[in-house]
Amino acid sequence: MKLSLTRTSLSSILAPLLCNSHPSHRPISSLSVSHRPTSLTPETTPLFLRPPTSSASLSDLLKFRNWAETLSSSAGASFSAQDNGPDTHLLLRELTWLLEDALENPKTLAYCNPSAVSNDLLVSLRTDLEELYTLWKQRIDERRPFQYIVGCEHWRDLVLGVREGVLIPRPETEQVVELVSDAIKGNDELGDGLWADLGTGSGAIAIGIARILRDRGMVIATDLSPVAVEVASFNVQRYNLQDKVVIRQGSWFGPLKEAEGDLVGIVSNPPYIPTEHINGLQAEVKHEPRLALDGGTDGIGDLLYLCNGAVSMLKPGGFFAFETNGEKQCKFLLDYMETKVKGSFNDINIVSDFAGIQRFVTGFRTR
Ligand SMILES: C[S@@+](CC[C@H](N)C(=O)[O-])C[C@H]1O[C@@H](n2cnc3c(N)ncnc32)[C@H](O)[C@@H]1O
Repeated sequence: MKLSLTRTSLSSILAPLLCNSHPSHRPISSLSVSHRPTSLTPETTPLFLRPPTSSASLSDLLKFRNWAETLSSSAGASFSAQDNGPDTHLLLRELTWLLEDALENPKTLAYCNPSAVSNDLLVSLRTDLEELYTLWKQRIDERRPFQYIVGCEHWRDLVLGVREGVLIPRPETEQVVELVSDAIKGNDELGDGLWADLGTGSGAIAIGIARILRDRGMVIATDLSPVAVEVASFNVQRYNLQDKVVIRQGSWFGPLKEAEGDLVGIVSNPPYIPTEHINGLQAEVKHEPRLALDGGTDGIGDLLYLCNGAVSMLKPGGFFAFETNGEKQCKFLLDYMETKVKGSFNDINIVSDFAGIQRFVTGFRTR
């Protein structure tokens, strides 16, 4: 059975898969987000969302900060020389962000005068001081990514939960949402239709798109990784988008069989790094799941698979945007679309990212 595109019928078909909602709302910046929407354990809840159940004296906290600053200063220079890793300046900024997330009242540290503070002043923390030492040692000694340490990443206007087992969404990927935004402008069919985000990871693209679609627009987000499915569900619920985004576990189009020919849009940032390049990646990246990075021998296999699938999955006039490794993959994909699946797509374009690197291939299913 195919999915039709009215909100009512879509919702009833997808109802069993919609996530359970526990809407206890807490506003963060101007967004309406849910505080503790899933059964995540304290360790997997982003630090800034944990209750302030610990405390430490201000002087002990300042000792921690001094210790962490010293460690960062000596490590930063070698990291950047080693593999273009984080320099001292960035590590010190991360330390400030860690403390901001850990303190119930971050201003306490920002405005205190270390030489004038009372030693006894107690500060409320979202994790204990011992854990802060452990986390910063992991940051420096193991090059554990900062985002896994605090359990979140700021992406567009969102703060997304992340943890080991799910890719940390990258700034260049933010542009996929802009590409979709451009495509749906003045095109009600796209704005109100059914989209797919394939290999959703933290749910970043799916959530970004869901927030710009029109009232009846919906996104199905798939991922093979159970951790990604759990994290994406957490993020979807925190932004109260359960009625706009459905998360399904499975391989690429596998969980979307009934939507064949009904999708108005497909977006994906699949694994595209050639296997032989994985070992040369920055130490932090090696903590991220190989399933999210390794695109096989030349890195293009999944992109080609998605391109072939888009032929039957997209509605005539439907839009696609695929992220690639750069110029070579963009050109290969464009050539493939123009020759091997000739006539299936029109207005195929290569779009550069904000750094000027050819990064995305976009286009429309021929009507
Ligand atoms: C580069 S990451 C992108 C994650 C997210 N979309 C983002 O941009 O931050 C690729 C994602 O594809 C998923 N993936 C890998 N193979 C897959 C497959 N066969 N089917 C579905 N998802 C897959 C990975 O688990 C990972 O979450």
